[in-house]
Amino acid sequence: MRTYVLHRQLLEHLPEPPATVLDVGGGAGHQSFPLAQAGYEVTLLDPSPAMLAKAQQRLQGLPGEAQRRVAFLQADGENAVEAVKGRRFAAVLCHGVLGYLERPEPLVNQLCQCAAAGGVVSIMAGNAKTLAVRPALERRWDDALAAFDATGEVGVLGVPTRADTVEHLSELMQSQGVETLRWYGVWLFTDWLDFSGAEIDLTDSRQVAAMAAVELEASRRDPYRQLSRPFHLVGRKGLG
Ligand SMILES: C[S@@+](CC[C@H](N)C(=O)[O-])C[C@H]1O[C@@H](n2cnc3c(N)ncnc32)[C@H](O)[C@@H]1O
Repeated sequence: MRTYVLHRQLLEHLPEPPATVLDVGGGAGHQSFPLAQAGYEVTLLDPSPAMLAKAQQRLQGLPGEAQRRVAFLQADGENAVEAVKGRRFAAVLCHGVLGYLERPEPLVNQLCQCAAAGGVVSIMAGNAKTLAVRPALERRWDDALAAFDATGEVGVLGVPTRADTVEHLSELMQSQGVETLRWYGVWLFTDWLDFSGAEIDLTDSRQVAAMAAVELEASRRDPYRQLSRPFHLVGRKGLG
């Protein structure tokens, strides 16, 4: 659901393929491989040899043409400019990475520098304003009350993660010459159903497609997008 919604949101802003995409902290390629299949030239950068190996393995499942459109780089996002040797991209993605870092500034600066003039910067991050949602749905009421003023949480994988706000990341991007175009929620109802223990039949493709359509609509409008646990921020670098 997350990949589908982000993909649809991204296509509203990306230039037509072929165009270059840098996926920083791209992990197993869940977000960028569909773009390679759609005709984009993808560079997936990640510091983790294990994630890169997983990505390479998943890549084998793609058609040969799409496989040839994907390149891998092992590096920290904070060193992305050096790792790509100064190359600039039509789009720079960074989804689900900032929360693992102590501060967002060094990575956001690199993302903005890697974007070409007029290029898109796409960031998905945990929303600091909705940190009470998960503990409340898990009926951890003391944690939920404390979460209203928290800046991070212990994530679903048991790792402490930091959360961000649309406003702060927008300011950081703007300080690097990238103007916010739009921000979205990512998922809402499926997340709530999941945490409340409801069964979702993922083999029922008609129902999954209907759910996806609802999530996409909710991600675009208030007040729904404001309640999503992650947010998706899209900016465009100035031409000057
Ligand atoms: C939750 S996964 C997200 C993967 C992918 N972006 C996605 O949306 O499916 C987080 C990824 O960030 C990577 N990562 C961790 N620290 C990083 C850093 N300093 N710079 C770039 N990537 C990093 C991890 O190796 C992992 O692949």
